[in-house]
Amino acid sequence: MNNLIDIKNEFDLKIQVAATSEELDSVRIEFLGKKGKVQELLNGLGAVPKEERKDRGQALNELKNAIQTEIEQKGVRIKVAELQEKVAKTPVYDASLPYEAKCGSLHPITLITNELEDIFASFGFSVEDYSEVVSDFECFTSLNIPEHHPARDMQDTFYLEDSDSGQCDGEIKLSSTDRRPPITDHQKLLKTHTSAAQNSLMKKYGAPLRAIFPGRCFRNEATDATHENTFFQMEGMMIDEGVSISNLIYFMKTMLSKVFERDVEVRLRPGYFPFVEPGFELDIKCLICGGEKCASCKHSGWLELCPCGMIHPNVLKQGGIDTEKFSGFAFGLGLTRLAMMKYGVKDIRVFNGGRIEELKIGK
Ligand code: DAH
Repeated sequence: MNNLIDIKNEFDLKIQVAATSEELDSVRIEFLGKKGKVQELLNGLGAVPKEERKDRGQALNELKNAIQTEIEQKGVRIKVAELQEKVAKTPVYDASLPYEAKCGSLHPITLITNELEDIFASFGFSVEDYSEVVSDFECFTSLNIPEHHPARDMQDTFYLEDSDSGQCDGEIKLSSTDRRPPITDHQKLLKTHTSAAQNSLMKKYGAPLRAIFPGRCFRNEATDATHENTFFQMEGMMIDEGVSISNLIYFMKTMLSKVFERDVEVRLRPGYFPFVEPGFELDIKCLICGGEKCASCKHSGWLELCPCGMIHPNVLKQGGIDTEKFSGFAFGLGLTRLAMMKYGVKDIRVFNGGRIEELKIGK
């Protein structure tokens, strides 16, 4: 049996030294391979005298099993170590990039949205999410803009072709207002304004209601420094008993003072939107010149910021609201424009441009 002990000793030494999968594999071949040391002894069993053969065979099998188990266990340890080494060597980021390029910031639209959501939540408004594909009814008809109303022309719309059934087969084919498909209430389109969510939110929650709903909007616009085909708005509605223009002014002024971190002066000018009556353009006193008139405010002393108004009774009725009892205001903040003003972004195309250097806010 001596040679078995020798073999085991030799194996113990070699397996201890084996540090990689390859080294372990050559130890395995040396001892357990077809021409390996253990196999050779097994092949020689026939020559062993009969009376010793059984014990010899048993001992050889035990040796073979012991070697096999140790190789397997060592194999697992080596695999884990190799994996750990690989992970440690894998760089988490490319350290050769210049520092600025390595870390960006939240997108300016995300930042301003988060800020406004916090502000309006503190006023008791809920924050609602709404889809980007809406029906013609939601976007126009429910907002007091019937099919041939000229107000539709102000929003050159992307219509989804073949979507009259309300079913979209996944392929989105767009046509804009000049080649639009015949209009029905079900016709799907990319929402041109966040007002498109008003009707369904009224139906969902009823009155009283305080909600804001930020979202991406689409219009068939040629892009330049101040126009984009894809932009963000934040709509807000407050419906309750006795809501008046004073409430609208109060909320707008308080909200804008928080956004610009100073007391802002606001004024209302008449503005026409079919879904509000009366409708307004809300201006703030120019933050650059304080009303003294400068190039930023086109020498008027005021900056146009947010169209708004008292929700038209037809719109409330379409949403199932009792107009004898409730009234409400609505506003459509241009989030993209607000972000440009707050963060000093001069070109609107920056927002969809994906350049970290231009989109980064703060240090
Ligand atoms: N939806 C209008 C637009 O995008 C903006 C607007 C005007 C929204 C008046 C309102 C509002 O809620 O009351 O042109």
